[in-house]
Amino acid sequence: MRWREDVPVVGSVELPPDPHALDALGRNHSLETALADLVDNSVDAGASSVLIRFIQRNARLIGLYVVDDGHGMTPRSIDTALTLGGRRDYRATDLGRFGIGLKAASFSQAASLTVLSRASGHEAVGRRWLQGQNRDGFHCDVVPEDFAVAELDRTWPFSTSPSGTVIRWDQVGGFPASEDPHLVGTFLSRTVDHLRGHLGLMFHRILAKGKLSITVDVEDVDEGVGVPAEVRPLDPFGYRHGPDGWPKTLATDVDGVALSIQCHIWPGRSNNAEYRLPGGAELRQGLYFYRRDRLLHAGGWEGIHAPDKKLQLARAAIDIDGDVSGLFTMNPEKSRVTAGAGFARAVGAARAADGSTVTDFLHAAEQTWATSNQRETARRRPVVPPGRGINPRVSREIIDELPQLNESPLNILWVKFDNNDLFHVERETMTLLLNRRYRAALLGGRRGGLNDAPLVKALMFLLMENVFQGAHLGSRDKDNIDLWQEILTAAAQAELASFGGRG
Ligand SMILES: Nc1ncnc2c1ncn2[C@@H]1O[C@H](COP(=O)(O)OP(=O)(O)O)[C@@H](O)[C@H]1O
Ligand SMILES: [Mg+2]
Repeated sequence: MRWREDVPVVGSVELPPDPHALDALGRNHSLETALADLVDNSVDAGASSVLIRFIQRNARLIGLYVVDDGHGMTPRSIDTALTLGGRRDYRATDLGRFGIGLKAASFSQAASLTVLSRASGHEAVGRRWLQGQNRDGFHCDVVPEDFAVAELDRTWPFSTSPSGTVIRWDQVGGFPASEDPHLVGTFLSRTVDHLRGHLGLMFHRILAKGKLSITVDVEDVDEGVGVPAEVRPLDPFGYRHGPDGWPKTLATDVDGVALSIQCHIWPGRSNNAEYRLPGGAELRQGLYFYRRDRLLHAGGWEGIHAPDKKLQLARAAIDIDGDVSGLFTMNPEKSRVTAGAGFARAVGAARAADGSTVTDFLHAAEQTWATSNQRETARRRPVVPPGRGINPRVSREIIDELPQLNESPLNILWVKFDNNDLFHVERETMTLLLNRRYRAALLGGRRGGLNDAPLVKALMFLLMENVFQGAHLGSRDKDNIDLWQEILTAAAQAELASFGGRG
């Protein structure tokens, strides 16, 4: 047959999606990203208060609520809201987008989703959806009005009247199936901490404006509500003064679309929560993508550079609203932004008003790290320099992290002893001698070499380098050496015994 431009058809069949398709939704969610997605909806509904409440009975966690005082849903709009992919007219500032957030986030964590809502001037409405309940289509249960009212009027710390919404999860998969109060308590405190960190970071711009408050609490259905914890904004750029000349805004055009990158440099490592973000400061270097003031993605270089300890002070904010959105894709969980192929090129072309490039930014950040690290290092107690026998990687870290005394380096070497002591301090030759009898056991049978046993030697260095300082051994040093000898020799003998006859 010759090639035909049009494909002929003879009719159509209806293929509604199998309800199991729901199971695959939101696979990339964690509890925190799922809850952030529900908070997005509360923000879009103009809420000024959001409460996340864990529900406990006899120590066991049995459910979770997300409550807000936003504009709520009308009896008509709640059905669109629960429809998968049901979309409304979004305003330019809305966080919602795909019409799947509520469903994907909820079913990623819970087997039962109940939505109860009241819009100003309308009666309360409720729907419940059980995952896997409806094998024959997408049916959703209708909750009676009196139950919807009762849930909306529970003892929340704020009023859901005239309008508000209660999202309720039951059968939450990630909760421990345990009634052990200690285990559940540990789970809760860790989970609440993570959650506050994550929400504080993702919503920091919105929270800082002061129009929204988010709290987290725990209710024991028999004993009442615990102390609420407020989510505080965690601004990744929340330092006082950066190095001179920074931050700078680098700008460029991508096919006629303006892209701008706010390049910040922290003045040095800090103990502030803003610096030590969830996940650790070192992993949080790099790019921060915002959409409508909601942080979507915190850190990483998206192919501009590899992560590097020396770049940990560098963080840059990019707003991906409006036209530039074509350069990026965001996953439906809104937890990750992926930059398209044009992005690295655009970044390379970006310039600040004074001509600075991204390379200048990275360079300045590295420079700032080096100077501030020297300052921090200088405050530490100085050590004798590491010498022979110590693994070069360990030596490099010691030199990076600690000020060095102007003395001969300390060597750590194995020799034959005629007793069972693990070590001997030989100050004249600046050598810590180790008893070769234990070498094979400590190496676990691996082959030795000059720089072997790096961990043992690093520990010995940190413990004992001090006694190699100064003109002579003090009585305190002598006493410490005796103490270490007793304990470490016992440890070495235990290593030898468990290594067996093999050594
Ligand atoms: N807390 C809420 N308050 C008011 N309306 C809500 C709330 N949560 C969800 N909705 C409604 O449900 C709709 C669907 O939500 P969702 O599945 O998250 O998709 P999207 O936010 O992308 O529209 C929202 O557009 C909104 O109309
Ligand atoms: Mg949404």
